[in-house]
Parts: sequence; C-alpha cells; structure tokens
Amino acid sequence: MTDRILTVRMEAHPSDSHTIDRYVKTGGYKALRKALKKMKPEAVAAEVNASNIRGRGGAGFPMGVKWGFLGAAEPRYLVVNCDESEPGTFNDRQLVERDPHQLLEGIAISSYALGISRAFIYVRGEYARGARRLQRAIDEAKEAGYLGEDILSSGFSLDVTIHLGGGAYICGEETALLNSLEGRRGEPRLKPPFPAIAGLYAKPTIVNNVESISNVPWITLNGGLAYADIGPDRSAGTKMLSISGHINKPGNHEIVMGMTWRELIYDIGGGIRDGNELKAWIPGGASSPWFVPDKHLDTRVELDEVGANGSMIGAGAVVVMDETTNVVAAAHSIVRFFAHESCGQCTPCREGTSWMEDILARIMDGRGRPEDIDLLMDVSDNISPGLSWPPAMTTICPLGPSATAPVASIVRYFRDEIEAMMPNKEAANA
Ligand SMILES: Cc1cc2nc3c(=O)[nH]c(=O)nc-3n(C[C@H](O)[C@H](O)[C@H](O)COP(=O)(O)O)c2cc1C
Ligand code: SF4
Repeated sequence: MTDRILTVRMEAHPSDSHTIDRYVKTGGYKALRKALKKMKPEAVAAEVNASNIRGRGGAGFPMGVKWGFLGAAEPRYLVVNCDESEPGTFNDRQLVERDPHQLLEGIAISSYALGISRAFIYVRGEYARGARRLQRAIDEAKEAGYLGEDILSSGFSLDVTIHLGGGAYICGEETALLNSLEGRRGEPRLKPPFPAIAGLYAKPTIVNNVESISNVPWITLNGGLAYADIGPDRSAGTKMLSISGHINKPGNHEIVMGMTWRELIYDIGGGIRDGNELKAWIPGGASSPWFVPDKHLDTRVELDEVGANGSMIGAGAVVVMDETTNVVAAAHSIVRFFAHESCGQCTPCREGTSWMEDILARIMDGRGRPEDIDLLMDVSDNISPGLSWPPAMTTICPLGPSATAPVASIVRYFRDEIEAMMPNKEAANA
C-alpha cells in the first residue's frame, strides 16, 4: 500500500529536494509531459475528479467538483492558497520549502486542465524562505521550459506569480485572499457568487490549497482511480498532518487516512511527553472542536467520521495536550487569537470574540463570576446558533463560529475544571 506521495523525495534527499536537478532526476515533470503530450485538458480534469481528492485547505470540498464549477468567461485564474495561518498548521510550509517543483508541476497541470494561463501563489508573508525557494523554482522551471511560453512545445503557456501576504490570518479565507491579491482590504466577501464564477478581478477563479495541488502530478501520472484506491472511500489519498504540543514526535507526518487517533497519537506521534496522560487534542487546528481520550481515541482519522463526531480534520493541525494543561488558558489563547484576527465586518464575530476573551481572562485570573459559564455559552450561541456541527452562521465567514469551538469544548468536557477556578465554587454550581 502507498503510504507516501508528497514527501517521498524530501525524505530520500533532504538537502536538495527543492532543486530542479533533484526533481527531474526523481521523476519530476514527467506528469506534465504526459498531460501536455498525451492528454486533452478534459481528460486531466477527469482524472482529478476520479481521484476523489477532497481539498486539503480546511473545508474538504471535492476538488474535481469545484473544478467543474469553473465559469466559461475569460480570463480565468488559478490561485494557490499558501497563507497557512491556522495555529498549529505547518505542512504547506514544508511542501513549498522542500519540494516547490512538485507544487509548480501541479499548478502547470491544473492550469492546462482548466484552460488557465495565469496563476498566483498567495504565500504567508512570514514564509520568506518558502517564497525565495518558490521564486527560484519558478525561474528554474521557466529556464527549463516547464513554465512560461509554449511549454514543452505544446502551445500551452503559463505565467506564475508569487504574492506575499501581510500577516492577517483572515487572508487565508479564499475571498479575503482574493481581495488582498487585488490590493483591497483582506475582508471576506459574501457568497454567492463563489470564486469559481466571479473570483479574482470578478473573473472565474479556482482557489486550491498547496497540498491539494501538490497531489496533482501523482494523480496525473498514476491515474485518478489509483489515488482513489488509497485509504477510505470518502477520504482518499494521503494527508499531511502537522502534529504539535505535548507529543514525543512532533512534526509533519504524511499518513493514509483511516487509522485511529490512538494509532496516530501513540504510534505515529510516539505517545505523550514525559510519560504523561493525554488530556485532550485538537484534531484540525484552532478552529476545530476538541477531542478527548475517553470518547475519541478509537474514532478514525477520516474526514466524515471526524465530522460525525462533531469536529473536523481541517488543514491537518493536530495539537496534543497532556494532563498538565490548563484548559481555560489554552482556550483563552485560541480565542484571543480569533479576536485579534477578526476583520470586524460582522458584529457577532467582532464583539463576541472579544467578550469571550475577556470572560475567559477573568476566570483565569480567579475573578470569574457565577454566571460566566452560561454567559460564555450565550455569547457562543449568538455567534453560532445552536452550537451545532458544522456550525450555523450569523456571519459572513466561518472565523467567528470557529472561535466558539474551544469555548464549547472546555464547557462540554472540562466544566468541573472551569468551576474549580471560580472564586466561589458553590455560587457557580447554584
Ligand atoms: C478564516 C479562514 C482561514 C483560512 N485559511 C486557509 C489557509 O491558510 N490555507 C488554505 O488553503 N485554506 C484556508 N482556508 C480555506 C479557504 O477559504 C479555501 O476553502 C481553500 O483555500 C480551498 O482550497 P481546497 O479546496 O484545496 O481546500 C481558510 C478559511 C477560513 C474561513
Ligand atoms: S466572521 Fe469575523 S472574520 Fe469573518 S467576515 Fe465576519 S467579522 Fe470578518
């Protein structure tokens, strides 16, 4: 069974996996050659559709279906999302720093499939090394005839431009990203229209994540069905998980989905640091509701099963917390992040995230009020009514509802610990 697709080259050749020489020597750009010389654009898109790959940027939307929505108007654009600002996520960073040509080959094949001649990579501003390597890789690929005019004498041309973000988390949301790329404030747009119909400069635009696009060369070379064969039906392929926190083997781990969280944390992750007990983990980045050992260790790492258990794999950031964790402090830290990053367009998000931050701060300081837990839940309910999963929205984008995830998680699983931090525990229980 294939257990690595994306990281094979960087694991075998850690010092030069980012160079065009190593890329070509290890089979790179063969898929592009195959696509341009032997396949019609529709045939390439059909392979991606057959692969059943679901987007790796967070929402898990089927990539082939999204491509099928692309409007016919010209010009059309491909925008690759490398904003990667979800706390705990660092897999795109590795992909662009250690194998930028894999992404570029994926961009070239995807653009050919979609009839696109202009692509952008929106890179998180702090990823200076990744951006440098990407730019060098673009220059190398142009020089070698894999990008630019008349690629491999096929008549297909493609320009790829890197754009650096300015440090706002919200610019990872696809429509805020498009606004930022256009030079506007990075604020999410109301949808519809979706970017596939009216995206960059109001033209049809496909926005895909770095990891999603990096899979395209393998799919093109080996066929969509071979990809669909890897892992569970509804979570095909491999997924890079960024595992961090109180774990013995932190880092990016490329896995075939379908294993249990127990296997992921104890076998792949090497277990909990210092022999401590596992207290909770965040399965899919700061935006996702937490999992706890007595309920979720035997749940599978699979998009729909995690969803059915009230959370998400998201962009693949697994944050592990051991028994020493102060859960109120952990939730406060996440909520403070969302309050800081709210773009301010929607009242429930702008006001509610700050209120939740203030309430959690006073509980941490030992100044909690008896009504604070109910108040926290009330504010959360106003941002995301019913606190259901996936979250109901009173807002333009999911950032506000995401901020309720840590709050609802600690109230659901660790209410006694919150109450124990109240100055007057009896009053809190009244
Ligand atoms: C607040 C917020 C931040 C996001 N940040 C990112 C990000 O950093 N990278 C990313 O690929 N997707 C991010 N997304 C998801 C994108 O909006 C979009 O769904 C994704 O780029 C589509 O690519 P995919 O279909 O390949 O997953 C974010 C969404 C939200 C609501
Ligand atoms: S939910 Fe928050 S971040 Fe999203 S658009 Fe509204 S105010 Fe901005």
